Amino acid sequence: MSRTPTDAPKKLFIKTYGCQMNVYDSERMAESLEGYVTTERAEDADMILLNTCHIREKAAEKVYSELGRMKKLKADKPDLKIGVAGCVAQAEGEEIMRRQPAVDLVVGPQSYHRLPQMEARVRAGHTALDTDFPEEDKFAHLKGRGTQAKRAPAAFLTVQEGCDKFCAFCVVPYTRGAEVSRPADRVLTEAQELVARGVREVTLLGQNVNAYHGGMTLAQLIRELAQIDGLARIRYTTSHPNDMTDDLIAAHADTPALMPYLHLPVQSGSDRILKRMNRSHTAESYLRLIERIREARPDIMMSGDFIVGFPEETEADFQATLDLVAQVRYGYAYSFKYSTRPGTPAAERAQVDSAEADERLQRLQTLITRQQREIQQEMVGRDLHVLVEKVGREPGQMVGKSEYLHAVHINDCTAQIGDLVPVTITEAVTNSLGARLRTGA
Ligand code: SAH
Ligand code: SF4
Ligand code: F3S
Repeated sequence: MSRTPTDAPKKLFIKTYGCQMNVYDSERMAESLEGYVTTERAEDADMILLNTCHIREKAAEKVYSELGRMKKLKADKPDLKIGVAGCVAQAEGEEIMRRQPAVDLVVGPQSYHRLPQMEARVRAGHTALDTDFPEEDKFAHLKGRGTQAKRAPAAFLTVQEGCDKFCAFCVVPYTRGAEVSRPADRVLTEAQELVARGVREVTLLGQNVNAYHGGMTLAQLIRELAQIDGLARIRYTTSHPNDMTDDLIAAHADTPALMPYLHLPVQSGSDRILKRMNRSHTAESYLRLIERIREARPDIMMSGDFIVGFPEETEADFQATLDLVAQVRYGYAYSFKYSTRPGTPAAERAQVDSAEADERLQRLQTLITRQQREIQQEMVGRDLHVLVEKVGREPGQMVGKSEYLHAVHINDCTAQIGDLVPVTITEAVTNSLGARLRTGA
């Protein structure tokens, strides 16, 4: 067996679960570990990092089975180091070390700037665990992004992290901590660095991104970002209905770079359940809000999240959710069966029968899928723009995203990755659209 010479770069394999913020964090962690290059193959790695998600039980349990597999690699390669990052690390750090002794390192989301020191510690043969919520701002201490090579044209950019909303089902306020916004000047600098590396589209991330308050509001930040030369598209996610201000709604009308797409989870259509969820809005106030957003930007594509089988949910409550979905017409919607999370208020309550919840989930997903297909079908014949992101499977084909976030395949495409091109949509296939380039546009 060959061994890596000590001066050659070591190889880092990162596996990312959960939300877009984890995708962003994985990139930042990889960039912060000097002396490492990333690899797509766990077998080649000198260090494996699992960036984990705690949102539902299944997601959290997956980590332990994955660690079981990774442990076997250590048998052939005793120098291999295994680390766990993300929300399971935060919630169950010590338990991870106990349940899987092959783990060398556990790092919670607020301590990523300490990863390089932790890596040095495990290289020296120790273990390292850090799940603090430190005083200092991790982003101020994470390495900048200016010196890195060219990258994909669409990027995530975290602007806000943590949550103070405490929905009764949700672990995020515990795993990510209190709501904190990054200062706007740092966000703008990072966006400029990304654009210098070929980025044309940024998605601003936060658990409650529309509550952003880093010296300016999210609407102001979006307008500032729209001034950056070369930055063609801006998106943001995830928003809470209660923080959707008039000014942010106005930005959808007055800022062309802000894409007509909004992920605005509501979770349920029943006021009784919304109250029990501690959502502090009603189905009616949510629907009125969407009306106002659509007045500002009539073509906006709505997306949402739903939980079915929340404790005490009756058939009538569930019916109210179906009614709300039918009214909104979501371009995309994500629905989940309620999962009991230890330590959250809802975990103590009377649970809905599991088979009943499965059946409701299926009914909701049928409705959502039908809506999505109809909306995709309505795109056929429309003139849209696509940001080209990769080469397609067929010869001459390129793939990218429309303003509405649909995946679009462009046939006979002469455009390059990173180009923003005008197209006409020619067909709707199961999960994507087909298109041809519009010339002379
Ligand atoms: N900050 C975002 C995202 C939270 S997690 C927001 O406020 O919407 C993403 C989605 O996971 C949530 O919108 C919710 O629909 C779902 N989710 C969260 N906790 C859950 C649980 N215990 N069981 C099932 N789904 C859950
Ligand atoms: Fe979780 Fe609610 Fe906060 Fe979203 S707003 S992260 S669902 S507690
Ligand atoms: Fe999961 Fe943490 Fe994101 S629990 S959804 S990785 S904030």
